[in-house]
Amino acid sequence: MTSSEQIFTTLVLPYLNHAVRTYESGYASVSDIDAAMRFGCGYPKGPLTVVDEIGVAQVRDLLGARYAETGDHLHEPAGLLEKLAAEGRTFADEAAAAGEGAAPQLKHEINRVGVVGTGTMASGIVQVFAQAGYDVVFVGRSQDKLDGVIGYITKNLDRAIAKGKGTEGDKDALLGRLTGATEREALGDVDIVVEAIAEDLDIKLELFRDLDRIAKPGAILATTTSSLPITKLGEATGRPQDVIGMHFFNPAPVMKLVEIITTPATSADVDETVRALTANVGKVGVSAGDRSGFIVNLLLFPYLNDAIKLAEGGEELATVDAAIKETAGFPMGPFELLDVVGNDVSLAIQRELYGEFGEPGFEPAATLVAKVEAGELGRKTGKGFHTY
Ligand code: 3HC
Repeated sequence: MTSSEQIFTTLVLPYLNHAVRTYESGYASVSDIDAAMRFGCGYPKGPLTVVDEIGVAQVRDLLGARYAETGDHLHEPAGLLEKLAAEGRTFADEAAAAGEGAAPQLKHEINRVGVVGTGTMASGIVQVFAQAGYDVVFVGRSQDKLDGVIGYITKNLDRAIAKGKGTEGDKDALLGRLTGATEREALGDVDIVVEAIAEDLDIKLELFRDLDRIAKPGAILATTTSSLPITKLGEATGRPQDVIGMHFFNPAPVMKLVEIITTPATSADVDETVRALTANVGKVGVSAGDRSGFIVNLLLFPYLNDAIKLAEGGEELATVDAAIKETAGFPMGPFELLDVVGNDVSLAIQRELYGEFGEPGFEPAATLVAKVEAGELGRKTGKGFHTY
């Protein structure tokens, strides 16, 4: 076996197994798991399609061999692989048996959208809604931060114009749909608020209490959190039925996925409206429950963590990055992506997953912890796994 193939076996097979287990547990459908990884991470194919292509029995056997070497529960072939192999069935058969639901409809009228936050995710989300024709009110803590959002969007639009994918007129029209505000009261007449502020429960709880006071009755209150309990945010308001997760991916204007997270209290109408709105802004929505990691982070971060552990064993970073792009066709190698996401964010997510699932294999890699302690967070600090 060549080294590239070894790297594929070490990093990609456990990811495939994890995807099978996620489906097997009933957490998400075959189509949503595959769409999540294609549209959230830019993978050419979803993991369950890849399992079908390699062959269910072959994946079981490859994992079985790996499990015999490592004894790691994460490598033990999922029971469903055995079952499907025995029945001669595939994940495509499972998806076909589940059938497709009807296209979602807007049950609430959505004209004006509010966004809270001025960071990278918030800026991207403002752009996504304005690009789809919505008037957007965005709220930040200072005029400087509001200007930063306009700067981010202007830069993206200028880059698109330079590539012949838009005109100055389109840009002016889009920027004309934006209203920045330093006071949350400006959100009083929006139909949906999407918050993308700091990933800290107390900070978000305070915001949701305030949104409950400010937003008009019936307005949808959405959060982009990737790791905090949305149920708790709903409970901080007097309207938990209107609270939902809309988890966008980085960079938001490019990545087509939105994970739509309902809590036990979210109303069916709010869920359907957000699924319809997601489609209206040109994104692909997948549905998942309020649990740490949702679909993408659950499948992505243990694989990134495994890559770090592989490098700790002496593998070169550039070799791993290149091998993954070549063998799996992923758009970025694991270390390139870690540097884009930020090691601090990755460590926080990995810790959440380790806490929620208690899998020994999910324990954050020592080097990830060390990088964060050294302030080597990735592109944003000029150095992470690679240097910029
Ligand atoms: N903002 C806006 N647009 C951007 C952008 C940005 N930051 N970066 C790139 N683009 C646009 C480019 O303008 C270009 O647009 P065009 O096709 O209309 O001309 C398009 O994206 C492709 O860009 P490039 O050709 O420069 O670069 P690539 O082909 O290398 O693609 C990429 C860049 C889309 C980022 C690709 O590398 C990719 O898909 N990477 C995977 C990213 C990923 O996995 N994200 C998920 C991270 S996990 C997460 O977000 C969850 C959270 O909870 C942590």
